[in-house]
Amino acid sequence: MKILIIGGAGYIGSHVARAFLDHGYEVTVFDNLQTGFRENLFEDARFVHGDIMHPEQLRAVMAGGYDGCVHLAALKAAGQSMLHPDAYAESNISGAINILNQASAAGISPIIFSSSAAVYGSPQYLPIDESHPKEPENFYGFTKLEVERLLDWYDRLKGMRYAAIRYFNAAGYDVQGRIKGLELNPENLLPIVMEVAVGIREKLSVFGDDYPTRDGSGIRDYVHVSDLAEAHVTAFEYVVKHDKSLVINLGSQTGVSVLEMVERARAITGMPIPAEIRGRRAGDPAELVASSSKALELLGWVPKYSDVDTLVSTTWKMYEKHVSR
Ligand code: UD1
Repeated sequence: MKILIIGGAGYIGSHVARAFLDHGYEVTVFDNLQTGFRENLFEDARFVHGDIMHPEQLRAVMAGGYDGCVHLAALKAAGQSMLHPDAYAESNISGAINILNQASAAGISPIIFSSSAAVYGSPQYLPIDESHPKEPENFYGFTKLEVERLLDWYDRLKGMRYAAIRYFNAAGYDVQGRIKGLELNPENLLPIVMEVAVGIREKLSVFGDDYPTRDGSGIRDYVHVSDLAEAHVTAFEYVVKHDKSLVINLGSQTGVSVLEMVERARAITGMPIPAEIRGRRAGDPAELVASSSKALELLGWVPKYSDVDTLVSTTWKMYEKHVSR
């Protein structure tokens, strides 16, 4: 089977490409390398340098004929999306429309789409299941929800099947160390903690210790990126087998607080990781935890690497070589 992975050189995309390769698929990665890395490309996958903003480049790659497409090419910083909605609208919504139209013309289905827990907004109950109200509180979440709606219409009108996969907090790195690219200027907690551990940053700012949580810091559902990647393969196979689209959450169903994460990182890295309590970050809910029972029930998906220690230790393996920088 042939799979096209758009955005396959990025952090999540490279893990997804690796998972499809490990399952014996013939993989083509399409990426503009803006935030993706050449070092994330695998010898056993084909690479096409191209941009989703150029429909003719999509048309050219899709002419190769594929049994499906994974779309992970997007901007993803929720905070930035509130400052630059135009850039997010263009990349995340117009870019997705280009992909859908070209895939539809080339007869490529299903599309496996990287969505986000950000589509839900502040939790009205926990854990968050797929039918939780969708009221995104940042523009990034809005773009993901818009694309899900487009997918649903293309399914109804054109018979194009899809899986929309709503990630909670992706973290960790391939346990076998096969992914080489480190994200630059990370905005997420664990990579920032690691940059403090190796001295790239002086200290961690803990955004709030007065939330109504067990230790006052924010609680999130961290899920290992290899567990996410594996679910893309299973979701693709599910949609093909049942000829039916799918919307699922992927999380570990376990909440970890910022302070708990820092504590485990100190223990595992042996580094002091100075942290300072700062004010809350705008738009951050106190707690986000997924219900992943639908993924378990339909896909038999059980996270293998999403415990805190594996998340921290696989990330540390990527960063420890930078200690002397
Ligand atoms: C957000 C999005 C998520 C998206 C992800 C990708 C929302 C609700 N969530 O996750 O959908 O996939 O970004 O980037 O929009 N923290 C600190 N100090 C820091 C950094 C983070 O204390 O320097 C805290 C945050 O306040 C939060 C937790 O760590 O409680 C996780 O933050 P982060 O890694 O930025 O992810 P989210 O904002 O949860």
